[in-house]
Amino acid sequence: MSSIDYSEKIPNNVNLSEDRTLRRALEQWQPNYLSWWNDMGPEDSQGFDVYLRTAVSVDPQGWAQFGYVKMPDYRWGIFLNPAEKERKIHFGDHKGEDAWQEVPGEYRANLRRIIVTQGDTEPASVEQQRHLGLTCPSLYDLRNLFQVNVEEGRHLWAMVYLLHKYFGRDGREEGEALLQRRSGQQDNPRILQAFNEPTPDWLSFFMFTYFTDRDGKFQLCALAESGFDPLARTTRFMLTEEAHHMFVGESGVSRVIQRTCQVMNALKTDDPAALRSAGAIDLPTIQRYLNFHFSVTIDLFGADESSNAATFYATGLKGRFEEGKRTDDHRLKGSTYKVLQAQGGELVEKEVPMLNALNEVLRDDFIRDSVAGVDRWNKVIEKAGIGYRLKVPHKGFHRNIGSLAGVKVSPEGRVLTQEQWNAQVDQWLPSTGDRAFVASLMGRVAEPGKFANWIAPPVVGINRQPADFAYVRFN
Ligand SMILES: [Fe+2]
Ligand SMILES: [Fe+2]
Repeated sequence: MSSIDYSEKIPNNVNLSEDRTLRRALEQWQPNYLSWWNDMGPEDSQGFDVYLRTAVSVDPQGWAQFGYVKMPDYRWGIFLNPAEKERKIHFGDHKGEDAWQEVPGEYRANLRRIIVTQGDTEPASVEQQRHLGLTCPSLYDLRNLFQVNVEEGRHLWAMVYLLHKYFGRDGREEGEALLQRRSGQQDNPRILQAFNEPTPDWLSFFMFTYFTDRDGKFQLCALAESGFDPLARTTRFMLTEEAHHMFVGESGVSRVIQRTCQVMNALKTDDPAALRSAGAIDLPTIQRYLNFHFSVTIDLFGADESSNAATFYATGLKGRFEEGKRTDDHRLKGSTYKVLQAQGGELVEKEVPMLNALNEVLRDDFIRDSVAGVDRWNKVIEKAGIGYRLKVPHKGFHRNIGSLAGVKVSPEGRVLTQEQWNAQVDQWLPSTGDRAFVASLMGRVAEPGKFANWIAPPVVGINRQPADFAYVRFN
């Protein structure tokens, strides 16, 4: 297994020292990356010592090392999972052929687009989250935010490596453009809409890392199947890091719920106003945040019928989630899949060629996976003896992409008129008032072992550190 060379300017396990052209290109990009980090990375955090994990190997056992790092000095590097010997393409028209070690000329444009779209989400989320450090609910949470941020930065490195190594000058230009777009900016926004939404508070952050980083997981899993072997190997290692991001989201929401339930039981009430005056986030507000982040995130999978999705699969560029575990013919010609459309005031299923429905297939896999964590949140509520249950909304709810874009659908899946929607939307999506209330709770708690009143402490520390561990030192 190739180990990571940390003596180099850019840590890597891809023999960068032997490829002088590539090394030079990346060393030219590096200062631009750092200046992007200084401008758009976590606000006012440059001097902090943060207890971070850094990848030191790609061995699934013990790949990470923990220690204090100043974030601008984090060793962002290039790490690929080891090559599988004689790996074959295992889906699409090229099934059975050797996996590609170079970009096939005829697929160059599509591959570049796939890599750029994935790459663009990585710095985007850092930008979306850059103000959150100022209102952290604890040092533990602050450290987790920074961990997620530096790893998203590394994911950008992972994609830029592919662009520089395999796409020549076009790739280098794309690498620059990735540092120039800005989340939420009018004239040069990030590519995908969910990455232009603000992440204004910590409840949004936890929902984002639960749902939207999970979109990342599913996209990366689909790319980890790619016939283009360097992409498959890169994304596999990214997935190792991604797991922690979803953990931050799932445990974060869970701790908010736990605290709310404690207050509900202490005050013996479920009245949102009473809970709010006690400084807890009422469960219906948590449900509305969930509805928002779930719906915005499932849009990321794209249109339910898509000829691009069919092309990406048929040409072996992007597989399905767990492609290797499926027992069909991995070509899918002649198979069908059901997608939804609105017809005469109702949602009806429509059977379409499966190849064209692969975005929907991935979206449905994502939905199944998301529901599992929501069930675990409900266990926390149940354990507290409270009858309320959280639910993911119907997949037609609040959609902006695909055949349901703009159709007004309730969280239960009923098609509504605009008037019906307007009358109830504040029960379903965070209102201005909800957002203002959540914002009002966001104060900074930065003493070891202390937590904001609206969130419970975690069950265990990072790397088994004690409860009062100083995850961040401000100097
Ligand atoms: Fe990422
Ligand atoms: Fe992530």
